[in-house]
Amino acid sequence: MFSSLRPQVSSIIDSNTTKEAKMQAICELLKEKVPHYDWVGFYFKNGDKRELKLGPYAGEPTDHTIIPFGKGICGQVAESNENFVVPDVQAQDNYIACSITVKSEIVIPMFVNGENIGQIDIDSNTPDPFTKADEAFLEFVNFEVAKIL
Ligand code: SME
Repeated sequence: MFSSLRPQVSSIIDSNTTKEAKMQAICELLKEKVPHYDWVGFYFKNGDKRELKLGPYAGEPTDHTIIPFGKGICGQVAESNENFVVPDVQAQDNYIACSITVKSEIVIPMFVNGENIGQIDIDSNTPDPFTKADEAFLEFVNFEVAKIL
């Protein structure tokens, strides 16, 4: 599944449209094609502030359009610079719930010139669905998106 999605992500990156439209198309592709991806979105550092701002996403609208560094899974990744895989969101103390249907989450940081500038965030309604294959694929997605930022 992920091996067939990689060239589709790359062709979106190479298409003739805005970076926002490309990221939007990637969110929709991933949500549509990966059964355990129920919400897919990008968060980016909000200027000079120590907070994340929601960018393009696919799935239900969320109230959490701004997330301070350190808060929730996303805010922790903004500070740790490391992948964060959460098999069971209910087991996390520092977690921001977006929907009661969400069981698990994965957040992968995105780097430009070595700086953590944002992340891709996936929510799943399936318990414990994420493997190293998800991490490798989402690192690839972020690497591709970082090229156009
Ligand atoms: N659950 C995230 C908040 C963002 S929503 O999942 C879209 C967190 O704990 O940071």
